[in-house]
Amino acid sequence: MQAITRKLGHQSLKHSPAISSFKSLYPPSDDQYYCSRFASNVATSGGGHLARKGTGGRSSVSGIVATVFGATGFLGRYVVQELAKMGTQVLVPFRGSEDSPRHLKLMGDLGQIVPMKYNPRDENSVKAVMAKANVVINLIGREYETRNYSFEEVNHHMAEQLAMIAKEHGGIMRFIQVSCLGVSPTSPSRMLRAKAAAEEAVARELPEATIMRPAVMIGTEDRILNPWAHFAKKYGFIPLFGDGSTKIQPVFVADVASAIVASLKDNGISMGKVYELGGPDVYTMHELAELMFDMIREWPRYVNVPFPIAKAIASPREFLLKKVPAPMPTPTIFNLDAIEAIITDNIVSKDALTFEDLGLAPHKVKGYPVEFLIQYRKGGPNYGSTVSERVSPESYP
Ligand SMILES: NC(=O)c1ccc[n+]([C@@H]2O[C@H](COP(=O)([O-])OP(=O)(O)OC[C@H]3O[C@@H](n4cnc5c(N)ncnc54)[C@H](OP(=O)(O)O)[C@@H]3O)[C@@H](O)[C@H]2O)c1
Repeated sequence: MQAITRKLGHQSLKHSPAISSFKSLYPPSDDQYYCSRFASNVATSGGGHLARKGTGGRSSVSGIVATVFGATGFLGRYVVQELAKMGTQVLVPFRGSEDSPRHLKLMGDLGQIVPMKYNPRDENSVKAVMAKANVVINLIGREYETRNYSFEEVNHHMAEQLAMIAKEHGGIMRFIQVSCLGVSPTSPSRMLRAKAAAEEAVARELPEATIMRPAVMIGTEDRILNPWAHFAKKYGFIPLFGDGSTKIQPVFVADVASAIVASLKDNGISMGKVYELGGPDVYTMHELAELMFDMIREWPRYVNVPFPIAKAIASPREFLLKKVPAPMPTPTIFNLDAIEAIITDNIVSKDALTFEDLGLAPHKVKGYPVEFLIQYRKGGPNYGSTVSERVSPESYP
């Protein structure tokens, strides 16, 4: 083949009858087809700046072609937006409906956001969505099990598979694995144990991968304040597990997206590192719930549910999951594994690398990040009273 190239020169190569007959005689194998851009199958360490051309706006060319697994989720939309607004081509693998990645298309210039249907259990289809990329970001995760997917498969094995394929690909300059704050192989939470195993597997396959461990994320589509607000509107109170004194360090979702993109823009210093991404303030669960009530302008009412009782309430779903041949309801507040995870405090460790090391300062959660909660105020944005205004329920009209 090289001899033919030399003989014919580059210009005539494309239409050469010799090449056409060569191609028809030797059609590319699956692997060659998916990875045809890359000659080597050795992972490159990828130090140095990735971002290359343009002013940095949506219509410039960042030089990054990123496959974002899990882009259809909560964090995904913020990551895709951050990438797209600096002129990155984003490949969006999705499963299920064509509608699931639709909202992402508008975030970039025409043709820059490319939804690609894939099957996470089919290795070739995963290879196909990664073939043209030089960056892989893994946001796949789930905090509950379904009949089809176990914690281990979603949170651990899929990450491991992506890292293996990225290594084999050879042209992936950066791999970002999004994990969770508090991961540990000894955690009582199965999801946190699976995430810990994923981190280990990713680091084994790709020592240069960057691992991000966000704390509980807050934002318009979050899965802590929204379920609380729904519950409070429906029942007039929320259940607080234990006495609500567990400490967490909630973080604004857009800050996590910024951290991911900042790690791509650096000179490679974030490669092979683990970052713990918590907000600037530590809250107890009770304090965070107070903030939610304040925003929705409802009087705070709680029912303290001791952990053993909370687990007992959440257990039937898990027990029946694999026994009943029907889909079980998605757990929101009473999620057994999530209850296990919040028995102990979950805050950024002292010597961890954080936002600061990426040159970022995270937003305070109180303020813009929780403003979306005003949608829960019935009767308009000025309806009701809040604790901060020191108005008692007796003074309601
Ligand atoms: N939300 C938080 O507060 C929080 C806190 C710390 C860490 N994290 C981690 O951050 C990452 C992103 O979180 P998120 O809140 O954006 O999660 P999310 O909204 O639940 O989105 C998860 C993504 O993973 C995909 N996914 C789930 N199960 C899958 C499966 N079996 N096969 C293929 N794809 C699957 C989903 O695809 P579909 O849309 O097709 O379901 C979705 O795109 C996750 O790894 C999560 O564990 C989240």
